[in-house]
Amino acid sequence: MCRPDYFTVSYRINPWMFPENPTNTTLAVEQWERLYAIYIELGFEVHLIDPIEGLPDMVYSANGGFTLDGIAYGAKFTYDERAAEGPAYLAWLAEQGFTPHAAAEVNEGEGDMLLVGDVILAGTGFRTSTASHRELAETVGRDVVSLTLVDPEFYHLDTAIAVLDPDPAPGQQANIAYLPKAFDEASQAILRERYPDAIIATEEDAAVLGLNSFSDGLHVVIASRATDFDRQLRERGYEPIGVDLSELLLGGGGVKCCTLELRR
Ligand code: ARG
Repeated sequence: MCRPDYFTVSYRINPWMFPENPTNTTLAVEQWERLYAIYIELGFEVHLIDPIEGLPDMVYSANGGFTLDGIAYGAKFTYDERAAEGPAYLAWLAEQGFTPHAAAEVNEGEGDMLLVGDVILAGTGFRTSTASHRELAETVGRDVVSLTLVDPEFYHLDTAIAVLDPDPAPGQQANIAYLPKAFDEASQAILRERYPDAIIATEEDAAVLGLNSFSDGLHVVIASRATDFDRQLRERGYEPIGVDLSELLLGGGGVKCCTLELRR
């Protein structure tokens, strides 16, 4: 995670961002600290990368890369405003002991690359290129399923899909939750076929970035405003934990965006 000490909205690279409106960095830090505390309470080991002044979106660490089996596939950002985050995250991941792989192709890390059981679902359409999906598959040696995002409000895959069972028991199907209208027809068909029991999120919940969540397979940390998602999770036996990241929503990010998973 990356403490939002320099968080603000000073440019506009997604429809959520309004640089003309004020942000409250103190509140952003307080809300982020609550998320951090939840992870500690759940028993996770949380490592912190130092924030860099002038990189206000660095708090969205999910975009910093993608890790699997001790390999770190680096991010290569679409917009110049975030470009410097790519090498900063990759250098940090190397210090953490990962084998770094600097990407040749444009990609925004785990924001668009989600491990679900033994496959990686990868988004394209706004930020991450399909060429990077192939590069990722070669780098980590896993199957990558490409999905096309079509709604600018849901510009990263992790705004449209929640991974509920990151590490299912052998023989058990990993489940997800998603917002169908964020995807083109062909991608919707893939999702229906692969995840017949998926939770279908309401537009209201997706619009507070409710799907942008983190699950350990039982506890699911979600936006507290995503009330129907909370209800559907409880019905399926999960234990949702609500958190208010309203200030970080002003940059177009939520729980998952603030979380980069380290898979050694
Ligand atoms: N302002 C950031 C951007 O547009 C938000 C990133 C949100 N991160 C995510 N994983 N969805 O790049």
